[in-house]
Amino acid sequence: MARTFQEIVAARLSRRGFLAAGAASVALGLARSARADATVDDTGPTGPFRPLPGDAGPELRLPEGHRHHTVLAWGDPLLADAPPFDPLAQSVASQSRQMGYNADFVGFVPLPRGEAGLAHGLLCVSSEYTSPPLMWPDEPRTARTLSRERCDVDMAAHGLNVAEIRRDVAGRWQLVQRSLRNRRVSAFTPIRLTGPAAGHPWLRTSADASGRLVQGTFANCSGGITPWGTWLQAEENYESYFAADGAGADGAGADSLVRDEIQRARVGAHSEHGWERHHARFRLADEPHEIFRHGWLVEIDPYDPTCVPVKRTALGRFSHEAASIVVAPDGRVVVYSGDDAEGEHVYKFVSEGRYDPAHRASARDLLDRGTLYVARFDEDGRGAWLPLVFGEGPLVPRRGFRSQAEVLIRARHAATLLGATPMDRPEDVEALPGTGRVVAAFTKNTKRTSKAVDAANPRGPNPHGHLLEWVEDGDDPTSLAFTWDVLLLGGPAADGGSGDGDSVLSCPDNLAFDRHGTLWIATDGQAKALGIHDGVYRVPLTGAGRGRPERFLSAVPGAEVCGPCFTPDDRTFFVAIQHPGEGSTFDEPSTRFPHDAADRLPPRPCVIAIERDDGTPISG
Ligand code: FEO
Ligand code: CA
Ligand code: CA
Repeated sequence: MARTFQEIVAARLSRRGFLAAGAASVALGLARSARADATVDDTGPTGPFRPLPGDAGPELRLPEGHRHHTVLAWGDPLLADAPPFDPLAQSVASQSRQMGYNADFVGFVPLPRGEAGLAHGLLCVSSEYTSPPLMWPDEPRTARTLSRERCDVDMAAHGLNVAEIRRDVAGRWQLVQRSLRNRRVSAFTPIRLTGPAAGHPWLRTSADASGRLVQGTFANCSGGITPWGTWLQAEENYESYFAADGAGADGAGADSLVRDEIQRARVGAHSEHGWERHHARFRLADEPHEIFRHGWLVEIDPYDPTCVPVKRTALGRFSHEAASIVVAPDGRVVVYSGDDAEGEHVYKFVSEGRYDPAHRASARDLLDRGTLYVARFDEDGRGAWLPLVFGEGPLVPRRGFRSQAEVLIRARHAATLLGATPMDRPEDVEALPGTGRVVAAFTKNTKRTSKAVDAANPRGPNPHGHLLEWVEDGDDPTSLAFTWDVLLLGGPAADGGSGDGDSVLSCPDNLAFDRHGTLWIATDGQAKALGIHDGVYRVPLTGAGRGRPERFLSAVPGAEVCGPCFTPDDRTFFVAIQHPGEGSTFDEPSTRFPHDAADRLPPRPCVIAIERDDGTPISG
């Protein structure tokens, strides 16, 4: 019999002592980790700022004693031959050389590589999608009417950006415009497929008989920086770029493989972005396999502007939200990643080979061989990692799988057969280096019914989302079992949340740890859920404030907040302000952020650098 929500929460909260008591290992783990320079104490840091109240005003807000400046915005000239930003003269040529749109993931790698990066580095920023009504005058709110020219600019505004930044004489981070280190990757860039699924017949198209060379990446949500300094970038809502029309709205006119994909990924008759109107590869009826070449994790070396990015198929195919990469005590590498769709799952990959920090080359193809697992969260607070291995358990020919490649390409189906727990839209999953501790955000799930709740997804519907925390057995990220708990339930108590007063957040999305092991959470959806702007929250995992959000940033109208990312010394906190003004238009924007209200420019998605006025670490 299904337990009531109150019973489930009571059971969870009664076990909270376990993970809280184990939180001292956060500090111990950090002392062993790459951030061993951290000032570690096991009482937990005290709050380094006075939390903000919720806000719905026109200005970006930060706590007293903090300031921000814009480092990188849509249209900034990146490549050597890039023209300056001019929203009235956009072209494929200019956008392919300038910063892309809607910044989501923000990573920082130091220059030179291996140095502290206190004043020089590379920003790795994804451009997840676009907001056409804010990019052009007179563009309707639907992308389906985009002209061929605007469609191709749109495709060029997606993808990845590598941008060299330096502190100037005033100490402010500045983009090094037109640096030879800068790079753009878009929906047009050649990308290799490697790993067990590369070359599989399902990955072959009329343009690529090899099944090993893809044109482009898009829907690039969050990602992660590897311990060897490469960037692992997720491909999330790939399905929204494809059109099922002609293959049958429900896939009835397609073969069973494509029909299953249309139904499981919920591919619409028309895409949200309209690219299929101008490019046949996005029409399933014309090119049924192109869709299987997206939904992977892409590895790119930001230090090598000429490298060909690689989609690593060993890590599975689904709506990858992000990636968090840690090294286990025995040197194997573990990559956590969530599948952001209602009722989908949390995964981790464990490499077969080991990473040797003294030899960067040891990581070269480390992510091509290993085992992918999916999580089952049990009612008693324990959990198990279930292997997606062809020939094991139900992953056999009579259940529809004929090879490991097929298991990886249809990872969602394999996960369901294995009995993985369907979650409330997994967003960021962040592992704390040097520990077995992991936190995951589940942004919301309005489709979960009250009858379908479980211990790890205790609300139905779930309009505010929640966070889970787990510790891998033996503090080893390669372990196949773990102990988990609810860290925080989004929303106010009146909605069954754990928040009260101003200490409340909703729709958690991107996560970061500071050098103390304190969690920082960016949100996506608070305007609808709470009537306030999205923001960034500090959430201690230790001490009396454990699980209580403190509002650090309140954004601007229409925006969600992404990133977030600390520099190695925690003195700078990079945050992406994604789609400022969304819901309004180029001619009448609800904000012109980061420009002044009197400015004539449209709002621009951007990355800002936040620092304390006195230059001390943001994290306290
Ligand atoms: Fe792109 Fe799940 O957010
Ligand atoms: Ca996200
Ligand atoms: Ca988001």
